[in-house]
Amino acid sequence: MFIRQSEARFLERRFCAQQVNYKILPFTDYDIPEAMELKNALGWNQTVADWKRFIYLAGGGCFKVVIDNHLAATCFLFIRDHIAWLAMVIVKEEYKRRGIGRALMEKSLEYCKDRGITLIKLDGTREAYPLYRGFGFLDEGELGMFKGRIGGLNYARPHTPGLKLKQVSVKDFDGIISIDTEAFGVSRATMIERLLLDYPERGFVAGEKEISGYILFKPGHHSYQIGPFVASSPREANALLEATIERIGMENREADICIFSPLNYQAAARLFERKGFTCVRRLIRMYKGKNMLRGRAEMLYALSGPEKG
Ligand SMILES: CC(C)(COP(=O)(O)OP(=O)(O)OC[C@H]1O[C@@H](n2cnc3c(N)ncnc32)[C@H](O)[C@@H]1OP(=O)(O)O)[C@@H](O)C(=O)NCCC(=O)NCCS
Repeated sequence: MFIRQSEARFLERRFCAQQVNYKILPFTDYDIPEAMELKNALGWNQTVADWKRFIYLAGGGCFKVVIDNHLAATCFLFIRDHIAWLAMVIVKEEYKRRGIGRALMEKSLEYCKDRGITLIKLDGTREAYPLYRGFGFLDEGELGMFKGRIGGLNYARPHTPGLKLKQVSVKDFDGIISIDTEAFGVSRATMIERLLLDYPERGFVAGEKEISGYILFKPGHHSYQIGPFVASSPREANALLEATIERIGMENREADICIFSPLNYQAAARLFERKGFTCVRRLIRMYKGKNMLRGRAEMLYALSGPEKG
């Protein structure tokens, strides 16, 4: 009997779906070892500490898919005000194209609807792009993943006359939140507070009475990661980046460094390239809902990571 291609695909999907019996459950600390394997298979940079922080920041918005008592997929939602950030959507290779990604998206959209979320954002891979488009997400712009290694980076010893730079401390919290909210458009206070507590003194602030820029960094699974990174002018940005590269170099002279930066504002990309970083990968920023986030893109040099803006 002749079966059209679309019917054949439908039957194949039903057949595959019947073969996997899965449950969607809350993601907990106990899932981290298997989650590390999932993301290691993709070469991603998150650490055990990152997953713990994600659980804390997501509250109830973290899900896993379990098949035969093993972790088969993950998905996190970070909510700030009326905005949700969708992240860590990973389906284990052997279970792909069986509707699990779709089921996690449905669960996430329902979770957001129940909480009155009016805007969902994400930084997506090319592989996930058709999935997100299928759920009505639209393109907003691109992000670049910049990589560099200490030995191959050009940085002078930081010396910027008239600009005060100091190592970050938890005492800078209020000043950081003020400039960060201006740049990002909505407060990231909970995330920044947690980063400052988890990685004390790993970063710098610029400015004297008022903070005119800040940068944080942390060790990752394979690279140090710089971000969030906000500066009110290229001069501050340059000084903060140089101080950070120097500081990472003091910790590890062979360190790899990665930075996720929005590509809609060219000054950030040019700064990283001038220092010897290369854009090795691009992600797509997508949104669904009323895109009313009004930050100052020219001040946002790096995201905290590709997971949560
Ligand atoms: C992207 C990903 C989550 C999709 O999960 P999945 O369980 O395979 O997706 P589903 O089976 O539910 O697919 C739903 C629909 O999305 C689209 N889709 C999913 N993967 C696709 C692919 N590789 N190419 C084209 N379309 C795809 C299709 O329209 C698919 O429907 P169909 O199978 O009826 O054609 C999975 O491939 C993955 O984990 N990739 C690696 C990690 C990653 O990039 N995550 C995204 C982070 S932003």
